[in-house]
Amino acid sequence: MSVRPLLAHGRLAGLDEIATIGVDATRGGYSRHVWTPAEFELREWFVARATGLGLDVETDRNGNLWAWWGAPGQDAVVTGSHLDSVPGGGAYDGPLGVVSALDAVARLQTTGFRPSRPVAVVVFAEEEGSRFGVACLGSRLLSGAIDADSARALTDVDGVSFADAAASAGLDPAHLGRDDDMLARIGLFIELHVEQGRGLIDLDAPVAVASSILAHGRWRLRVTGQGNHAGATGMRERRDPVVAAARAVLAVEEAALSTDDARATVGRLRIVPGGTNVIASAVDAWIDARAATDEATRALVADIETRAQRAVAGSGCSVDLIEESWSGVVRFDRDLAARLSGTLGDVPLLATGAGHDAGVLSGSVPTAMVFVRNPTGVSHSPEEFAEAADCVAGVTALEALLRSVL
Ligand code: GLV
Ligand code: MN
Ligand code: MN
Repeated sequence: MSVRPLLAHGRLAGLDEIATIGVDATRGGYSRHVWTPAEFELREWFVARATGLGLDVETDRNGNLWAWWGAPGQDAVVTGSHLDSVPGGGAYDGPLGVVSALDAVARLQTTGFRPSRPVAVVVFAEEEGSRFGVACLGSRLLSGAIDADSARALTDVDGVSFADAAASAGLDPAHLGRDDDMLARIGLFIELHVEQGRGLIDLDAPVAVASSILAHGRWRLRVTGQGNHAGATGMRERRDPVVAAARAVLAVEEAALSTDDARATVGRLRIVPGGTNVIASAVDAWIDARAATDEATRALVADIETRAQRAVAGSGCSVDLIEESWSGVVRFDRDLAARLSGTLGDVPLLATGAGHDAGVLSGSVPTAMVFVRNPTGVSHSPEEFAEAADCVAGVTALEALLRSVL
């Protein structure tokens, strides 16, 4: 068993080891999508790191990695996060939780600590949904929050199905889906994560325990017009879905602005076919919508649809709104969160607008989260950051929580 220093080059050594994997040449930051060469490299790094700590690594039937300290078994304490990223994402969203989990286990081991329950470090697959469109796919499949047929049918931008990608990664697509045996092993899941907003800056604290996650989901707004020639078609003869989609995108913003604390984002557009001298046939605009309750989020999306229809009226284009995923509001177990906060010296409880595997799993097993301060307040961007001292505070907090429950 090898013991490594916690820090290297001013950051957690584990983050330093993976710093060159999956660098995004266009935006900066990282593009580490599930089952791409970069993500495979991260999986190999994880296996090597976990094996170096004497952990036994297995891949479950949904592509999630589990590194077991001691024999796998029931009532396990599981910690970890994800290694995949959004396009051009930051270095911390996901990897911080995985590296901190390995470091917390390593620290327990070096003090001769003997856990009274099985312990696992987990890496969930496709947390961001950046390749197949549905976030937290690994934990959704594990817990049955998405059915296997729907998951198998998802496709990436090149038309590769999730089933085929899973097969290429060595999984049996027929065995994707709810994993009762693995679920039954989880007695408690704790995910440490970089904070993705400004909560801990405002609170002037390095760590917090999570209280809740906004309801959120993804919808595809398809605007259909008439493909035609850019030079031969007069400006008043067109049914241009790009112009209609631009109006619809403004309507998305207006709907969110008119609802307290709601958020709606169009972060991805696809113009079909996408040629400079071609009036497009259709546009897909993906909408990420979030609000404080399920009802408020549903109402926001209904308002978006009404406003988008109104915005394109008279353009000769049509609009369809298709739901691609849904995550209801998460309220983490209050007693558990309060207990963990107490163990850490009454650190704050903090709500978040970001989705997490812990949110998905909270419907099936006892679950909690620890947030580490992000001094930029920026996430899903190369500017996402955490000071080395706060990362160490996060590892120390996770180690203390593990000690308290093991
Ligand atoms: C994941 O980070 C999400 O909130 O979309
Ligand atoms: Mn993220
Ligand atoms: Mn994340």
